[in-house]
Order: sequence, then structure tokens, then C-alpha cells
Amino acid sequence: TTPAQLAAAIPKAELHIHIEGSLEPELIFALAQRNGLSLPYPSVEALRDAYAFTNLQSFLDIYYAGASVLLHEADFHDMAWAYFLRAKADNVVHTEIFFDPQTHTARGVPMATVIQGLSSACERARAELGVSAALILCFLRHLSEDDAFATLEAALPYRQHFIGVGLDSSEVGHPPSKFSRVFARCRELGFHVVAHAGEEGPPAYIREAIDDLKTERIDHGVRSLEDPALVAELARRRIPLTVCPLSNLKLCVVDDLRQHPMKRLLDAGLCATVNSDDPAYFGGYMNANFVQTVEALDLSRDDVITLARNSFEASFVSATRRAELM
Ligand code: ADE
Ligand code: ZN
Repeated sequence: TTPAQLAAAIPKAELHIHIEGSLEPELIFALAQRNGLSLPYPSVEALRDAYAFTNLQSFLDIYYAGASVLLHEADFHDMAWAYFLRAKADNVVHTEIFFDPQTHTARGVPMATVIQGLSSACERARAELGVSAALILCFLRHLSEDDAFATLEAALPYRQHFIGVGLDSSEVGHPPSKFSRVFARCRELGFHVVAHAGEEGPPAYIREAIDDLKTERIDHGVRSLEDPALVAELARRRIPLTVCPLSNLKLCVVDDLRQHPMKRLLDAGLCATVNSDDPAYFGGYMNANFVQTVEALDLSRDDVITLARNSFEASFVSATRRAELM
């Protein structure tokens, strides 16, 4: 087997997937029709043609527009189920899924609708596909910390349905420290905590995430390489980075996959993992990310095994499920 074949076949965990970013244009159109909504695009092709991004914000604008077709519990369930079928096909055996409740509650969709629709799909994935799944509630960082507190409050009646909280959306200008108090509260409540940092934002945001928010993982974190002392600390403390190579390419964080920092992150001894971020928008699910990265960077079989092992080490799976998986 080649390293690329091994990457496709090896069992793995996915730790950085926004479920709203798994909404394929075909499903956006189908849900719009089911819900009697009209879209500002004449066809699936026209929508897909609009997926030409120059940076994170240019993507987020279209990503939030796509999510506006989600109204009912079945819509959230169907979206997540479509993702689980893709994950299963890519030999993903465990997945930790981000969702953005504020995108939906701001449109009048109840928190219960969002969480119950996603949670029932997670249970079904475990029962019918053997894929374990957990949900991570993300706060939108372009909104206020008060809004995040209100979102936490609204979600607490459903707390058994999610294992942690994260921080996503427009990074630059919205440092992690903006959310210090709400993350402290979430830690007190016993939630796992992660945050996007160092995708477009500076290494100082990664430092704030680990020092101030006390995050257990960093989502993206590719700009850590600009600060050698930070890299040394992330390596020493085994703080994982959930890296998303095709996202970095499509959002122009890197110009070419051959310049992607994944190999440098591994060589620095970091617990880096491969993930798809928003696979419907960035050109591929887990194995597209894994295989294309292996080929572009000429990664070895040992690198592939390290990446798969890192994905389980970095995960929040229970001890019993971990024993089954590793
Ligand atoms: N929301 C969905 N995908 C995201 C990303 N890559 N960065 C920040 N927020 C996001
Ligand atoms: Zn992300």
C-alpha cells in the first residue's frame, strides 16, 4: 500500500467539522423546496459557482446564507445524516461535530429544534453505522460575549446532548479574550473547551486561547509556526491542532497544498490532525483532505499512522470507546 492508500483506509477520528459546512448545494436546494423558501441562486450549479473564496469572511457570508434553509428538526437530522454517510465511507469511526446555534436561533429557530435534530442523527450514526459522534456547541465570535452567555443559557436544558463548546466565525478583530468569562463558566459546568485560533489571526490569539480560555485543543493553529516558543509549548503540553488542509487552500491561507505547513507541524512534534472543516464548500471530506495532503507533501506511511493516532489521542472519546478504537 502507498501512503495515500493507507491514509484512505486507516480508521480515523474527525475533530473539526462544522455540520452546517457539510450542507451540499443539492441539499440546500432540496431543503429550500421542502420549506417553501426561494434562494438567490437559480440553480445548484450557480450556487456552486459562487464558491470562489478569497478569505474567511467571503466564505462565511455564503455559508450563513446556505444555513438559512434549515428550519425544522428533520432538516438538521437530514444534514447530519448525509455527513455521517460520507464519514463512514472515509473510515471515520469517531467524530466531534461543531454546530453554530446562533445562526439558527437568530432566525427564530428554537434551540431545541437544532439540538434534537442533530442529536438524533448522532444516535442513529452509532446504531446504524457504528460511528461514534458527539456535538460541540460553537459561539460566534463576531457576536458579543453577552450573546454567547444567552446562547449557553438556552442550551443548558439540553446539556446532555453536547460535550463541549468552541469558538468560530470571523477571527481577526475578535480575540479569544473577548470570551474569557463565558468560557470560564463553561469550564465550571464541566464542558470540554476548544477554540479556532491562528487560522487567519496571529499566534497571539493561540496564546490567548490556551492561557485565557484554557482550551484543550486549537482549531487550525497553523500560524503557530510564526512563534517558535509557542510551538515548543504546544508540543510539550501535547495541545492538539485540528488542521484543515483543503480549507486553508480554499480560503487562501496557503497558495498551494505543496506549501501547506502540515509536514512542518508534524516535524515540530505537534499533535496535529487532519480534518475537513466545511467539506461541502472546500472540495472534499476527510479522505480528500488526507489523501491530497499526503500526496502534496509526500508524507510517509509513518506520518499517516501518526496523524491517525493523533486524531484519537486528541479526541474526547470515553475511555471505553477509546479502548475499542485504539
Ligand atoms: N465557521 C465555519 N467554518 C469556519 C472556519 N474555518 N473558521 C471560522 N469559522 C468557521
Ligand atoms: Zn472551522
